[in-house]
Order: sequence, then C-alpha cells, then structure tokens
Amino acid sequence: MIPLPLARIAEITSGALSGMADPRAVVRGPVVIDSRAVEPGSLFVAFRGARVDGHDYAAQAIRAGAVAILATRPVEAPAVIVPDAAAALAELAAAQVAALPDATVIGVTGSAGKTTTKDLLARITGRIGPTIAPVGSFNNELGHPLTVLRADAGTRFMVLELAARNLGHIKDLTRIAPPQIGVVLNVGTAHLGVFGGKEAIAKAKGELVEALPRTGVAVLNADDPHVREMASRTDARVTYFGRGEDAAIRAENVVVDVRGRASFTLRTPSGSAHVSLKLYGAHAVENALAAAAAGYELGLPVAIIAEELSQATPRSRWRMEVTDRADGVTVINDAYNANPDSMRAAFETFEVLGRGRRRFAVIAALRELGDEAPALNAELGRLAGSAGLAGLIVAGPDAEPVLQGAHAAAQAATTAAGVPQQPQGVQEPQQAWQPPAGGTGPFGGPPGGGGAHPTRIVHVPDAEAAAAELNRWLRPGDAVLIKGPRAMGLERTAELLLGGAAQ
Ligand SMILES: Nc1ncnc2c1ncn2[C@@H]1O[C@H](COP(=O)(O)OP(=O)(O)OP(=O)(O)O)[C@@H](O)[C@H]1O
Ligand SMILES: [Mg+2]
Repeated sequence: MIPLPLARIAEITSGALSGMADPRAVVRGPVVIDSRAVEPGSLFVAFRGARVDGHDYAAQAIRAGAVAILATRPVEAPAVIVPDAAAALAELAAAQVAALPDATVIGVTGSAGKTTTKDLLARITGRIGPTIAPVGSFNNELGHPLTVLRADAGTRFMVLELAARNLGHIKDLTRIAPPQIGVVLNVGTAHLGVFGGKEAIAKAKGELVEALPRTGVAVLNADDPHVREMASRTDARVTYFGRGEDAAIRAENVVVDVRGRASFTLRTPSGSAHVSLKLYGAHAVENALAAAAAGYELGLPVAIIAEELSQATPRSRWRMEVTDRADGVTVINDAYNANPDSMRAAFETFEVLGRGRRRFAVIAALRELGDEAPALNAELGRLAGSAGLAGLIVAGPDAEPVLQGAHAAAQAATTAAGVPQQPQGVQEPQQAWQPPAGGTGPFGGPPGGGGAHPTRIVHVPDAEAAAAELNRWLRPGDAVLIKGPRAMGLERTAELLLGGAAQ
C-alpha cells in the first residue's frame, strides 16, 4: 500500500486515535483482517464475527508487528477507532485508488467465470506493467478493498472481481475503485434465490458498466442476450466478445481435445492468432475471449495475448483441476463452488474427458436458489442421471430432489436402452454396490466399455463418506468428477482420492 501515517488514516476514516497511538507512526501494509497474516508495518482491522471477535487479537497483532488496530471499540493497543470497520476499510481503499491516478482499474463480473477470467487477464496486463489481482475470489465488500490496498505507487493495473449478492453491491464496489474497463461475462442462475430472477441478476451485474466513465470501455459477451443489452446502460464505448461473427473479439474454429481443452483462432480487428488453452472445459473459451478483449483494448498485440492465454494454468484452486493418479484414474476437482450453469459446464467437459471410460460423479444439492431450489436440484439430478455415469454419489443435506431427478433420468435412460434398472430409492452407503471382482457385472465390460448401463446412485452424508464410497468403486482408468457448492467442501473428497496430495 502507499504508506500512511495514523493521523491520515484517522482523517480518511473519520476515526479517533486511541491507546496511545502515535499520529506519526506509519502504516506500510499489508492491511489485514486475519491476525495471523499480520506483518511488520501492518494495519490490523478488527471485525466482530459470529464466532470470533478480532478485537481479542489486538495485542497479538501488535506483537506480530502491526502498527495499529482499526477497531470499533478501544483495545489495549494503539488504535484508530471508527464506528464501522467495513466502511472505514472501504474509505481507506477509495483514498488509495484516488492517490494512484496512473493505475487502471479493470472490473470483472458475471455469474460464472469471474475468478478464471480475472486470473487470465492479470497475466495479460502483467505483460504491460505491475498488476494487482487477488488470488481466489476476493470479490465482496471486504475482499475488494483489501485487494485494492495491496496496490502501491508502482501499480499500473488492478484487476478486480466484483460479485453481487444483491442490487447495489457492485455499485458500492465501483465507488471504492472506479473502473475504466468493465467486463461482463454472463448472466446465469447463481444466487437466483437472493435475486428472485434473471432480470434482477442482470440489473445487478449491469451496475459495473453503469459505473464506467465516457472514456472507459465496456467489454460485453455478445453471446449472452442479457449481457448484450447492457450496452444501453453505459456511457462508455462498448466492445463485444463471443463466438459469433458480430463480436469484435471472437473465437473461430473451436476444437476441444480428448482432455476437454479448447483450441481456437482468436480473431481481432487487427489480426488473429492461435490459442491452445491448458484450462479445461469449452466454457473456458468464453473467459479467455473476455480477457483477450480487455487486453486488446489496452493495446496489447494479439500474439502476446494468445501466448499468455495458451500458457495459463489454473491459478486459483479447485476450479476444474484435473489430476491423473498413478493407476490411471483421472480426478476432476471442480469443488470450489457450483450453480446450475457451472454444473452443466462441468458435466459437458466430463463427457469429453471421460469418453470411453467408466465415469463417476460426486455432487451435492445446490444452494441459494430460493423458491426454485427443488426444481433446479431435480434438474441437476436429471442432468447427472442421464449423463451415462457408472455411479453417482450425492453428498450432504437436501439431496432428495437431486436423488429423485437422478433416479428418474437414469431409469428413463436404461429403459430406453433395454437394461434393467436398480431398485428405486435412496441407498445408504453401507449397502452400496461393491465392484465385482474381475470387472464384470452391472457396469459390465472393461473400462472404456461404454454403452448403456444403469447408473448406481447413492446418498452419503459428507465429503469423507463420498471418498470412502468411491474408493470401493474405482478401478484403474476410471474418471471422476467432483463438484458441489462451497459449503459442502467436496475438495476434501478429491484430496482423499489423491492420497492427501495438496496439489
Ligand atoms: N464461462 C463459464 N460458464 C460456465 N461455467 C463456468 C464458466 N467459467 C467458469 N465456470 C465454472 O464455474 C465455477 C467457478 O468458476 P470461477 O471461480 O472462475 O467463477 P466465479 O464467477 O469467480 O465464481 P464465484 O462467484 O463463486 O466467485 C467453476 O466450476 C468453473 O469451471
Ligand atoms: Mg470467484
């Protein structure tokens, strides 16, 4: 961050110094909300959470080198006392951005792909100058200012992810760091429950382009009608990316390899170049095009953009991480989070990557879908049940609609193929099917056998039980997809399958 004396921090946040705080003591950063992350020169922001109160860690933070605590009540340490710590954090971040007129702020929003796109774009802007971008999903009212506060006088780009959990959220974030470029990926069904409909989601995401100045650029997905319409909501120039002819930045000749990785010709108004993604899933093309369009607007040659896109590997964890075990079992760990759109994208990739192999999936009921939750979860079940899987494990609570959808779809698929179906109903893990010795039986044939066979469907309580179940099922050469909402922590299933390997 740009070094600030405590007196200035108090001024910016309308706070009061307390605890013998020296007004001339200088905070050099980082600004942190976790006392374990304190470094010499830090400002520790004390929040009162449901379980822990940051104020209790004030002394510990000072011992670790914090210059002061940003607190909402006096603590036994030098502090700046403010009425609202989150608001103070936002004010500090806004002041920081205002002090960096040479840094370009680029905001990325959308229902799915923000983190992936942000990571791709940060690689691209890194070719021009020092770039600040959070690792992971630091996209809310705390993560956003904390990221901004990592910038210093040398920062040229801030690539920020903006998430909306309701109307007005993105607007607030754009006030902290006013963007010059705003990228909108898609309007899907994530957090449908909070918003109550796609129109409302589009309204919220569009706040990013509404915040752009006349001199800015809105980078919009031409293939998503809700995103296209946002052109009417901005003063900025609009540029489109997509698959169609009408997009200025587009992908042509898209080919997906046997591992589910896409290659394409990246076309721009000033030339084209070949891109071969290392990221998994055809949906990564959308994210790559969005990052390419922003990079193009910044004046980077298409060859450099293509080079960066082609070299990028997943930077934030648990998003389509593909690992081959020594026994040839392939594990796709997409457990970071899930919504109906990213589930569909994951199953599409899995179909390609697992072609000709026995495929198993571990999923869990989707959350935050409001009134539509049962219907959308039943749809998820139907998607999984009709995916031609050898086995499906549904983990965690509220699984009933998923299980019912899965059973119905699996039955329809096998009836159509003339194969007897397993009995209906939820099977408890202890009664689960055991793989027959020698590899024959209901799933018949060698790995790679294909053809229609009944999908084994079981319900387990948690991520650990899912791994235990899978371990009984898996044979060399099988493929596994693991994907559920954040709260289910299904990355644990992947870790257990991969022998605890943290990779
Ligand atoms: N363009 C896309 N369309 C559909 N699914 C996508 C797309 N991009 C990524 N995904 C999938 O969505 C999930 C989340 O990806 P990512 O973390 O990049 O998105 P995000 O928008 O940052 O999510 P969050 O809102 O949880 O922070 C992953 O499973 C990923 O494979
Ligand atoms: Mg994210």
